[in-house]
Amino acid sequence: MIDWVCRHPSLKYVLEPAFGLGVFSRLLLSRKPEVEITGFDIDPVILNEARNSFKNFPNVNLVLADYLFNDWQNQYDGILCNPPYFKFHDYENKRTLKEIRERLKVNLNGFTNIYTLFLLKSIYQLKDGGRAAYIIPSEFLNSDYGTYVKRYLIDSQSLNHILIFDFKENIFDDALTTSAILLLSKDASTSSVSFTTIESRQQFEQAKIQIKHTGKAPASNIIRAKELNPDIKWRAYYQKQLSTKYKHLIPFKQVARVVRGIATGSNEYFTFNREKVKHFNIPQSYLLPCMTKSKDAHSPFFTKEQFEHLVCTNANVYLFHAGKSPKDPAVWNYIKLGEKKGVHKKFLTSKRTPWYINENRPPSPIWVSVFNRSRVKFIRNEAGIYNLTAFHCVYLKSDLFSNIEADLLFAYLLTNIAREIFSDNRREYGDGLKKFEPNDLNNGLMLDLSRLSREEQEEIKILYHAYRKSVLENKENQAPLEEIENILKGKYLRR
Ligand SMILES: C[S@@+](CC[C@H](N)C(=O)[O-])C[C@H]1O[C@@H](n2cnc3c(N)ncnc32)[C@H](O)[C@@H]1O
Repeated sequence: MIDWVCRHPSLKYVLEPAFGLGVFSRLLLSRKPEVEITGFDIDPVILNEARNSFKNFPNVNLVLADYLFNDWQNQYDGILCNPPYFKFHDYENKRTLKEIRERLKVNLNGFTNIYTLFLLKSIYQLKDGGRAAYIIPSEFLNSDYGTYVKRYLIDSQSLNHILIFDFKENIFDDALTTSAILLLSKDASTSSVSFTTIESRQQFEQAKIQIKHTGKAPASNIIRAKELNPDIKWRAYYQKQLSTKYKHLIPFKQVARVVRGIATGSNEYFTFNREKVKHFNIPQSYLLPCMTKSKDAHSPFFTKEQFEHLVCTNANVYLFHAGKSPKDPAVWNYIKLGEKKGVHKKFLTSKRTPWYINENRPPSPIWVSVFNRSRVKFIRNEAGIYNLTAFHCVYLKSDLFSNIEADLLFAYLLTNIAREIFSDNRREYGDGLKKFEPNDLNNGLMLDLSRLSREEQEEIKILYHAYRKSVLENKENQAPLEEIENILKGKYLRR
């Protein structure tokens, strides 16, 4: 990042908008002692410490103020930044978004993370010929709020390189986000943007050397700036898109609808195991059978027997379901206990009337796990029970245009083909953790199964039942799944 900014032919005025202890400035001064640095930070303790350690540098001016509301009138030759990462509910989001919207005359999504606001303001403050380097989470490249940010990046014609860190190990300590370094400049060299994925330390070292000596990162892909589309996930520019191997793809939402599971606002209060039911004497009619933890469903098939087993092992498998005006005194006592404990004043419960009624989200035939270490996990809810937010619900659409049976859809979802195609649309949280929001799946693609003939559908279902039987008998046999994949590949693989 320092090497990038130092390629400015006459670097003089430099800004570090989230100064902290001034890691960038320290390095920069060791290379260019003559530059004039301005730094901002809102934390007085940190800034005091920083002032102390830079006290022998009269050319470093540190300001205790909010960067996003100050300094709009100044421009800089170089900007270096590792901004704070706050989600929309963790900073003064309304006031800050208003400021940036009005100053930059841009639209912004209410869910915007603060780090992108730092970035946009810094681009605005870059002089002609200026150079900037930002290290930020890569999340905005593939999230909804990122669309406006990407549009601004394109319109400002300042983006040169994006290096995306997709490490198998976590290179930056304590960071549960995947990081990206953005190298920007306001000069004539920005007609195309290079995307580089960095997967190992060795690649990282190589990129550093190359930037230092040539001013360019080794590119995995180069896209003409004019062709960049702010409305798509930019993963398409730096990661191999696996879905392109297949033909006859349709949006998943044409066939099914994915919504998150029931959010209680206090799982500890609302969920019950057998002993707790007994202890509070709650009648069964006030309890719903419910999957509360992802670890309780470890096989692709969740059956009635497995549910009974969980009941016997005293797992939390019931959801409190009092209804609007319960008749049973024990149920009332439990509600009063909740009020005594302040459960009714929690974030979600305080918004409901009455507070103890959970949202109505009927059991779905298929679940999908929210966080996935290695691969997205689908589960067939044969027990027909409810589920909390550890899983999203997958409801099948059944109308004139779509009428796929749950078993056929589930057989498809078990294949590697489905996983490959969905993975184009996932989000990453660093540390190998992959997350699917309901809309990542709704907007994902799938094979158009209605193109299968009756015979093919029947064959797939027979193979599916053979696989199911093997799993339930604890003798999992992958062969039927492989056969299903072969049928699908024969039909949908592009040749
Ligand atoms: C990720 S740290 C950057 C660390 C820094 N690069 C260093 O060398 O220590 C982000 C810094 O931004 C500061 N910060 C947070 N919100 C800010 C704001 N609105 N304006 C200026 N600084 C802010 C924090 O106090 C923190 O020191």
